[in-house]
Amino acid sequence: MNYKNNNFYIEKIKAEKLIKKYGSPIYCYSNKSLVKNINNFKNSFKSFNPLICFSVKSNYNSTILKIIKGHGLGADVVSDGELKKVLSLGFKPNRIVYSGVGKKFSELKFAINKNVLLINVESESELSNIEKLAKMFKKKVNIGLRLNPNIDAKTNTKISTGRMQDKFGLSVSDIIKILEKFKNSYHIKIKCLSVHIGSQITQNKPYNNVLIKISKILAKSKFKFEYIDLGGGMGIKYNQNTKKLNYSKLSKNILKFSKKNNCKIIFEPGRSIVGNTAVLLTKVIYIKNSINKKFIIIDAGMNDLIRPALYNATHDIIPLNRKSSKNSIPHDFVGPICETSDRFLKIKSYQKINEGDNLAIKDVGAYGIVLASNYNLRPRPIEIIVKDSIVKKISKKQNLNDII
Ligand code: LLP
Repeated sequence: MNYKNNNFYIEKIKAEKLIKKYGSPIYCYSNKSLVKNINNFKNSFKSFNPLICFSVKSNYNSTILKIIKGHGLGADVVSDGELKKVLSLGFKPNRIVYSGVGKKFSELKFAINKNVLLINVESESELSNIEKLAKMFKKKVNIGLRLNPNIDAKTNTKISTGRMQDKFGLSVSDIIKILEKFKNSYHIKIKCLSVHIGSQITQNKPYNNVLIKISKILAKSKFKFEYIDLGGGMGIKYNQNTKKLNYSKLSKNILKFSKKNNCKIIFEPGRSIVGNTAVLLTKVIYIKNSINKKFIIIDAGMNDLIRPALYNATHDIIPLNRKSSKNSIPHDFVGPICETSDRFLKIKSYQKINEGDNLAIKDVGAYGIVLASNYNLRPRPIEIIVKDSIVKKISKKQNLNDII
């Protein structure tokens, strides 16, 4: 996705043409970016050949999932819906891990019957439900124990999951207790220690701290885990100021760890696979001049992309038609929703912009469409994917009358 003669292109297609044909707002993916991310992720960690389970919650569009599966990735799911979806797309159960703090009895039952690789357990009550089901079905169920390592991932507090005050995982002492209790269990086979400390992590240190913490647990418990699941969380570069993870150092560190402990590594990346693969194309409806700033009112709203409103996330907004002219007055890009938090970006200056101009909100491939809603009774945007010069519609338009 880039400019050619000042026009923004998605692969070989001029983005403006897509708005003309399909309307706006519209999510648009690049096939090439997706494949590149998958290959980069695999290459970064090829020295220890991890099982990479794509975190389906970040994007569950069927076409996107099929591409991901086609490149050999498994799936990390968190609900009946996600599990049923990936199974229906042909993901193999032995490449599926099931996470989540509140899996219902019926959801556990379904996952056990489908023989997923691991159910990552987050509480003693969940484990006792799994044991009941295992006895009922006369099965031995493979599980992972999700550790809450009490480590701060140094990310937005709303997407931080590894501190003691967060609801996720089991404490070290609970894990030691469970290992003792279930080490000879006929129905529960503890295969994995899993951890996920948060999302949009941009520093290596929290991951290194996790490895240190896990090493200590392994030494203390003397328990042999077949897998260590290090979760996802790898951050992406949303703008110039975002730091970048050092994948090569991270990989070397994990290789050393996995050799020493003789275990296989699992990852559950979401954002780092799909985050920068899509833009949200949108049109300027009105421009309103206020005291000391311009409100640029666009046709995408917080119902289409909630990340800025929910997490104060910054997504760059670029013009589809780039000009050299500049308007040195603050611009506030806002949506049409009746909420003050329906605001995407505040920027000190922008190129001269007019009503009817077309823009792209960048890096919306992860936690974009999956968090979209019908708030203000607006239909969700459709999704399209571009591969070279081929454009494919990959989700159905919601019929306004249906949602009315
Ligand atoms: N594994 C587990 C257990 C998770 O809870 C998550 C994300 C992932 C893997 C994938 O993390 P990723 O690689 O995508 O960072 N809606 C928020 C992000 C919520 C993340 C929830 N868990 C956002 O838009 O930033």
